[in-house]
Amino acid sequence: MKIKYAQRVNRIPKYLFVWIEDLIQEEEKKGTDLIRLGVGIPDLPTPKFIIKKLVEEIQKPKHHFYSIVCSPGEDFFRQSVAQWHKNRFNVKLDAETETCNLVGAKEGLVNLSRAFVNPGDYVLAPDPGYPVYANGAGILNDASVHYMPLSAENNFLPVFDKIPQEIRKKAKIMYLNYPNNPTAAVIDKKFIKEALDFAEDNDIIICYDNAYSEMYFDDYVSPSLLEFDRGMNHIELNSFSKTFAMAGDRIGMAAGNKDIIAGMIKVKSQLDMGCPMYIQAAAAAALDSYKGKQRPKEIEEMMKVYESRRDVVVNGLREMGFDCPIPKATFYVWWNCKGDGAEFVTKMIKNGVTLTPGVGFGEHSKEFVRLSLIQPEDRLQEAINRMKEALK
Ligand SMILES: Cc1ncc(COP(=O)(O)O)c(C=O)c1O
Repeated sequence: MKIKYAQRVNRIPKYLFVWIEDLIQEEEKKGTDLIRLGVGIPDLPTPKFIIKKLVEEIQKPKHHFYSIVCSPGEDFFRQSVAQWHKNRFNVKLDAETETCNLVGAKEGLVNLSRAFVNPGDYVLAPDPGYPVYANGAGILNDASVHYMPLSAENNFLPVFDKIPQEIRKKAKIMYLNYPNNPTAAVIDKKFIKEALDFAEDNDIIICYDNAYSEMYFDDYVSPSLLEFDRGMNHIELNSFSKTFAMAGDRIGMAAGNKDIIAGMIKVKSQLDMGCPMYIQAAAAAALDSYKGKQRPKEIEEMMKVYESRRDVVVNGLREMGFDCPIPKATFYVWWNCKGDGAEFVTKMIKNGVTLTPGVGFGEHSKEFVRLSLIQPEDRLQEAINRMKEALK
């Protein structure tokens, strides 16, 4: 029997990092001590109070049954989501209709689109951007993808005026993500207002992916789209993966327009049963640790660690002659390597440092490279030394 993939699966571009994995394995076989700074997985431990709650909750027999409410998430979780938005952004939400549990933000990005796009519709995806917007949300839902270029000259923000009229007419969802992966770019109120005006003029749902909302530095504090979305016409997703170092627990949350949430829940009800209840309880405890806008001490401490790592890397790259901006948020450093990013990364892997080439996030950032701050300072300093050596 000949097994054939569905056309939509064939349309998913080849995994760009196969060659990186091959190179890494080659180096590992040689016994090279690789400093892995390629992926975006936090290395710092999940805060103790979250683990404590998880251990308590996992012991309750009822938490291993099917959930009665299933996909939308437990009431206590949705209450915590609504309260967190009130504390953090002063946004008032109805927990029952305007919030929802996700099996990670990634799941929400894709299932949102499944609820709202038809073949021939467009999703607007940033380039560079998290590949799930174009591939998972767009292609896997039989939609077309319009890439919005993000350039350094425009602070890695899309230029809405450049989106052709014929695309605007067919666009259903626009994915925006700030603080941004991979560029670490951030936004201000003016940009949010522009995005809202553009979306409302063209009847486009904004899916605001705020996965890095709590990973900000210095005097910058990331906003929420919902603070400015007075008509509550759009949706925002948040992740527990980075903020609370819970990437493997697979939990996220959505908040915003009640009809959008209802559409997403309708799709989810055929696919998932909600996250395990003990995970929802631990995640709710994480959210409840915010008493106001201020991050709890555990997250402040975590961000201090990322901040000093950031400074080691940015200083090192500047010493190498790169014009590397100081990221105001995320745990990524993104810079123009003044050449082919893929060649640069290949050279660095051969010298014991793994990085991600910008081309992995889209065609518009071939000269860029992303480094994740996921190793202790001494290892990062060693990585910088190796990179300096490699460039000699
Ligand atoms: C921009 C962005 N959105 C969403 C996600 C996925 O988050 P989650 O782990 O909650 O699925 C990631 C993960 O790297 C990301 O970078």
